[in-house]
This record gives sequence, structure tokens and C-alpha cells, in this order.
Amino acid sequence: MSDQELIGEEEPSFHADAYEKKWIAISMVLLVAFAATVAIAGFAFGFQVPGPESQVDPRTVADSGPFSQPGLRDLGGGEYEVYMLAQQYLFTPREIRVPAGSTVTFHITSVDVQHGFKLQDTNINMQIVPGQVSRLTAEFDEPGEYPYICHEYCGIAHAAMFGSLIVEAGGGS
Ligand code: CUA
Repeated sequence: MSDQELIGEEEPSFHADAYEKKWIAISMVLLVAFAATVAIAGFAFGFQVPGPESQVDPRTVADSGPFSQPGLRDLGGGEYEVYMLAQQYLFTPREIRVPAGSTVTFHITSVDVQHGFKLQDTNINMQIVPGQVSRLTAEFDEPGEYPYICHEYCGIAHAAMFGSLIVEAGGGS
């Protein structure tokens, strides 16, 4: 008799028409592309989720260490860093001035609730979560005023929580 009788059942087989197979193939390509995007972002560009080294205690973060003296630091060679505290309802500092051509790294944390930090006309857009330090770097070649705002609702005076980065002309070399 036939093989079928030996096995007892029909062998399972996969039937898909050509159109279906095409979409399965496209889905597989997309999955690989998305996985590659995450891998490239993480390994080649250094995008990382916050690690334990950037954890702080929001109750004491303003008492010692760099966040006890928030503000701008000149690292030389056109490099700057800013340590900034977010709290209901202000950013400290509220104003930052750098010369055109500067590269500025922002380190920001919250001492109370979740805030946001968006710097207009740049790609800086962060959640500011108590217990974590958010860090991003941007270059400022164009002189002008770059307002920063809290874009995470944090209470009654959320709309009053903003500040300004001023890029001054003639400073760059
Ligand atoms: Cu801070 Cu909204």
C-alpha cells in the first residue's frame, strides 16, 4: 500500500499561493531590517537605554556631585556640558549662553516628578525621569535663541516651565 497508509495520516503540507508567499517574504525582510536597525543604533551609534551608572537618588541628587552646582561647564576646544535640574516648575539653569560652533552635552535629571526637555530646532527631546540622568549632545553652529520647554505635563504650572539656550555669534573658530 501507499506511504499514507503506513503513516496513518496525510503528511502535513504548507499551501500558500504566490501572493501570500510574497507578503510572507516581505514580512521576513522587514523583521530582519528592524532587528538590524536596533543593532546598528545600539552598537554603531551608541543609543542605549539608561544604565545603572546614570541612576541617581532624586532626594539627594542636588546635595552633592555635579548636580549640586547646575550650570554650564567649559571643557575647552568648543566643548561644553550642562548639568541641569528639572523640578516643578523650573529648569536650573534657566538660561545658557555658548558661542556659535559649540558642542553641548546636556545632563538632566528631575528632583520630583517626570518632566520633559525639548530644545527647539535641534534633535534634543528627552524624558526627564526622577532617578535617571538623561544625556544628549548637540552642535550649535547657528547663532540665535533656542528655547527649551517641558513637554511632559507635570502639574498646574507646567506651561511656565521653560528656558533658553543662547548661541552667540562670533565665538566659533
Ligand atoms: Cu515640567 Cu511640565
